[in-house]
Amino acid sequence: MAEEKIEKEVARRRSFAIIAHPDAGKTTLTEKLLLYGGAIHLAGHVRAKKDRKSTRSDWMTMEQERGISVSTTSLQFEYNAHILNLLDTPGHEDFSEDTYRTLMAVDFAVMTLDGGKGVEPQTIKLFQICRERNIPIFTFINKMDMPARSPFELLDEVEKVLGITAVPMVWPMGSGRDFRGYYDLNAKKVSLFEKTTGGAFRAPEKVSGLDDPELISAMDEQLYATFKEEVQISQEAILPFSIEEFKRGAMTPVYFGSAITNFGVQFLLDEFIRLAPSPSPVLTDDGNVIAPTDSAFTAFVFKLQANMNRQHRDRVAFVRIVSGKFERGMTVKVPRLNKEVKLTSPVAFFGQERNTVDIAWAGDIIGLINPGTYRIGDVLCTGDEPKFNPLPKFAPDIFAKLVSTDTSKLKQFRKGLTELSEEGVVQVFNPGDQTPILGAVGQLQFEVFKFRLEDEYGAKVRLESTPFECSRWVKEQDLEKFSRFDSVVRDERGNPVILFESQYRMQNFMNQHPEVLLSIHPPL
Ligand code: G4P
Repeated sequence: MAEEKIEKEVARRRSFAIIAHPDAGKTTLTEKLLLYGGAIHLAGHVRAKKDRKSTRSDWMTMEQERGISVSTTSLQFEYNAHILNLLDTPGHEDFSEDTYRTLMAVDFAVMTLDGGKGVEPQTIKLFQICRERNIPIFTFINKMDMPARSPFELLDEVEKVLGITAVPMVWPMGSGRDFRGYYDLNAKKVSLFEKTTGGAFRAPEKVSGLDDPELISAMDEQLYATFKEEVQISQEAILPFSIEEFKRGAMTPVYFGSAITNFGVQFLLDEFIRLAPSPSPVLTDDGNVIAPTDSAFTAFVFKLQANMNRQHRDRVAFVRIVSGKFERGMTVKVPRLNKEVKLTSPVAFFGQERNTVDIAWAGDIIGLINPGTYRIGDVLCTGDEPKFNPLPKFAPDIFAKLVSTDTSKLKQFRKGLTELSEEGVVQVFNPGDQTPILGAVGQLQFEVFKFRLEDEYGAKVRLESTPFECSRWVKEQDLEKFSRFDSVVRDERGNPVILFESQYRMQNFMNQHPEVLLSIHPPL
């Protein structure tokens, strides 16, 4: 009976993230998915900035001030008897390690493109991370109510630039002022687009066939002829959709719509239920398989976030459940600490609100109030310790010297430095007795760090430039091979790291010392 229950719960879960270049419509699509999920009732109010706030993950003042989403949240909603977990990835232009880690916690992704722009730089970066993990990807081509590029051109670009087979599941009828809806290539049915005022209602989607007189009268003759010809070409020229290819990340089903008018959003949700994988078994480093339906509970920490709620002043560890059932109050092992922990106050988040979680299943995300217990990558389990592949940490390529400018706040400075580096906001390198050096993969990580150190810990700091351009982890025994010109520092765990002043210097060193391993990831 218990086994049946867990199988049912896992099968109805879908955990995913939306990846998009800024402005492609990620926030709008998120809101509309929530609308159809019943999580937001007054769709007409969603566009209002003040209401938008509660669905965005702008917990931090800085996010609100700058209108960017720095941190990651997870939203859970129900749709058609399924539970959807939507993980929010940072939407700003600058890249951060948070993005990588969040994508480690999802089972599929929705790549949102602006129909007028197609594949953009940030799309490529985010896509590549999904690709590395073979995450299945849906493609949603948004803003079809605005002038868009030709569907053939867009599909071709996805294939050429991203190297994934793109299979349209629907075919759009025009775009911009001529947008009339789309044709479902599998069901062979037309959904007619009717413009709603500001997305105030669920989009009416009238369904009819390709030769429906209403459709013909809705389009001008030329447009209708072009559309029919395109559908014919697409049916002849495009590969059939293969669920196996999709699941191994080699093929993406493509949808067209207009998130702002809700058009195509419900169809997308239906397709998640039909095609997207529920949580799947995980292969561990030592060759074992953890099935989501295993009775033993297994989870890992993919994000830490401090000071999410000013009244609470706490830290939250976000955990993805890999297998089993979570029950409030259960005791789990944290193998890294060789310690047992009772999980008494798990929470789920909805924007700024938090709710206590009593029960959760594989695929779900829960937040654990973390009084400094957990680190990113920590495993929580009730059975044998699984050896997961470590969450990626990357050798930074931008650096700054960190100087405390208020000696009376040294204690706060140290606390903030420790907590924010544990959270993974930046990496901290220690060059012995001198001031610490911060490392990041995106400039914004520095700004967030400085802002939060001042805002949350009251410690004023200055960031000074350094001459370094790249870094690599090295083995202790190889340190003597480096000259005094190469800077040796230690990471948070004491591992030696070399900071190079240029790619050229690093390359030179590699040529001279092919026997020395320079690693872009820290040792396990
Ligand atoms: P992001 O999270 O990916 O950065 O994008 P976001 O949803 O904030 O959308 C960026 C802009 O594009 C917003 O306009 C939004 O209203 C608009 N948009 C999103 N989806 C569609 C669509 O389907 N059709 C059209 N025509 N526009 C769309 P904005 O003016 O920057 O913001 P706002 O004042 O509307 O909030």
